[in-house]
Formats: sequence, C-alpha cells, structure tokens
Amino acid sequence: MTKAPERQSDTSVERLILDRWSPRAFTPAPIAEAELLAFLDAGRWAPSAYNSQPWRFIYARRDTPEWERFLSWLIPFNHGWAQHASALVYIASHTVMGGGQAEPVPAPTHAFDAGAASVLIQLQASKAGWATHPVSGFDHEVARSGLELPDDYALNAALVIGRQGDAQALPESLRGREAPSGRKPLGEIAFAGRFPVTGADG
Ligand SMILES: Cc1cc2nc3c(=O)[nH]c(=O)nc-3n(C[C@H](O)[C@H](O)[C@H](O)COP(=O)(O)O)c2cc1C
Repeated sequence: MTKAPERQSDTSVERLILDRWSPRAFTPAPIAEAELLAFLDAGRWAPSAYNSQPWRFIYARRDTPEWERFLSWLIPFNHGWAQHASALVYIASHTVMGGGQAEPVPAPTHAFDAGAASVLIQLQASKAGWATHPVSGFDHEVARSGLELPDDYALNAALVIGRQGDAQALPESLRGREAPSGRKPLGEIAFAGRFPVTGADG
C-alpha cells in the first residue's frame, strides 16, 4: 500500500488526531463483536448536555445476517466502496430529554452530542489500527424504517469501519482522492472576541 503523506500542524495537535482520516479503500475482513463494541464504548465517554447521552449506535458486522440490509440503504456511490468494509454503524440521537414523570423537552444539542461521540469512536478505532469513514449519503427514511427507529430519535450519520486497503483497488475516479485532506488555516476559523468583519462576498 502506498503510504499517504503525514498531516502536519503548526501547533502540538496529537498524532492520533492528525492520523485519523476517512479512506474508501477497504480490505474485507471480519471484525469481532467485542472489538467493535470497544470502539462504541469510547463514544459512551463523550460529553453531552446535562450528561443526557442522547447517542445510540446501531450496528451490523460483515458476515452477519444484517450486513447486506444495512449496506443497501447507502447511496450507490457509498455502497460501491463501503461494501468492502467490516462494520456499518448508524448513529441516532434522542431528540428529547426527560420522560418518566416529567414531560419530555426538546434536546437542542442531541446531534452535536452524537457528533462528539462519533469522533471518539473514530479515534479509538484509529488507535487500534482500524479505519473509519463517516457517511450521511444514505436513504434516511428507508434506513430509519429498517432500523425501527422511534419517532423521537433522529438519524444523523453512519460510520463505515474496516481495515484500510490499497487505493489501487478503487475505481480510477476515486483513486486520486484517496489521501488525507487538508484543513482551513486556524486564522480563518478561530476568532478572539467577535466574529470578524468580512468583505461583501463574506
Ligand atoms: C456527517 C458526515 C457525512 C459524510 N458523508 C459522506 C458520504 O456520504 N460519503 C463520503 O464519501 N464521505 C462522507 N463524509 C466524509 C467527509 O467527506 C470527510 O470526513 C471530509 O472530507 C474530511 O476528510 P477526513 O475525514 O479524511 O479528514 C462525511 C463526513 C461527515 C462528518
């Protein structure tokens, strides 16, 4: 496999963070349920508003009866490469808090919290030598129904998890994109005090 150039940062960002990226070339390999659950366990430790832990992870592993069904909800572009991965994890979040005796109230940060959990899962998997690729390109209505998601849960995204494969195995159109992407400079996204005044074209 050709080694991708390492990402660099001007500050002291941890290698674990810089080295996580989202490949599309996977080598079909089974993943043990215990190993997958250990990645999902990392997500459990994310912060959330009121420690409400609104995330839910619904998974299928390669070579299990649910695998093809979970894959079938992906748009064709994503299906093309994700079919070679080892697990697919749909990430839902509870849109309300409370319940029990109390009237449920909207949980405005449910998707933000689930996103935080998703990143921890990706970092844990990356540290263990697995690759992950988040996707939102799937038929959300069909997936909701297939997952039997209750009405008060949102379906946010899914994580494709697998062993990274050789880019040469990808269709030519994807081969050139199979490398860690760059980022906007810090000065473009971090502001002291207030949002900067920009020109007419923003
Ligand atoms: C919520 C979300 C949805 C995404 N959906 C897709 C997708 O449907 N298909 C895809 O190929 N990549 C998808 N991506 C991957 C992004 O394109 C990728 O994370 C981004 O380009 C940054 O690259 P990196 O993850 O390699 O650092 C998605 C990422 C996120 C966070």
